[in-house]
Amino acid sequence: DSTLLEDVKARIRDVQDFPKPGILFKDVTPVLADPHLFGRVVNAMAAPFRGRHITKVVGVEARGFLLGAPIALALHAGFAPARKPGKLPWHTVTERYALEYGDDGLQLHEDAVARGDRVLIVDDLLATGGTADATAKLVTKLGGEVVGYSVLISLDFLPGRERLGREKVCALISY
Ligand code: PRP
Ligand code: MG
Repeated sequence: DSTLLEDVKARIRDVQDFPKPGILFKDVTPVLADPHLFGRVVNAMAAPFRGRHITKVVGVEARGFLLGAPIALALHAGFAPARKPGKLPWHTVTERYALEYGDDGLQLHEDAVARGDRVLIVDDLLATGGTADATAKLVTKLGGEVVGYSVLISLDFLPGRERLGREKVCALISY
């Protein structure tokens, strides 16, 4: 519903120069703090993927965990965390990706996704798409199929949406 978008936009807090100068940080914690709004957001982010036979939701560390886990429950799917290197205890697959400065990586447990799994990737925000693309590569390495991406916010002045495939990305809010 259109009022949901207005309600969420009103609760996203813009923080100037965080985590470094020149970055305008979109803080979603006020959305999560409101139980009614949080529920509506989870429902709306899950909705486009209902009936798509999602078997696994992969949430990306750290803020993707907060939305990914309840979306997995809403879709009656399992949940798997994609974590920064060195955080997962079991055998992992790793994907490195470029950041604006330097590089970073993500890992999945090798049994987090099985061949034939239909996977939804969830994060709070899509910017360059580097994080989501690395997550998709991990899923593919394990034989899963990336059905789509659900994000709360897409920064459409950056190339993330194009990079992942326009038709695969659902964003509640675009800037
Ligand atoms: C932010 C955001 C996304 C990613 C998007 O995470 O939560 O995961 O950046 O950027 P991209 O599309 O350019 O890859 P961040 O790296 O700040 O880590 P955090 O979620 O652990 O705070
Ligand atoms: Mg993140």
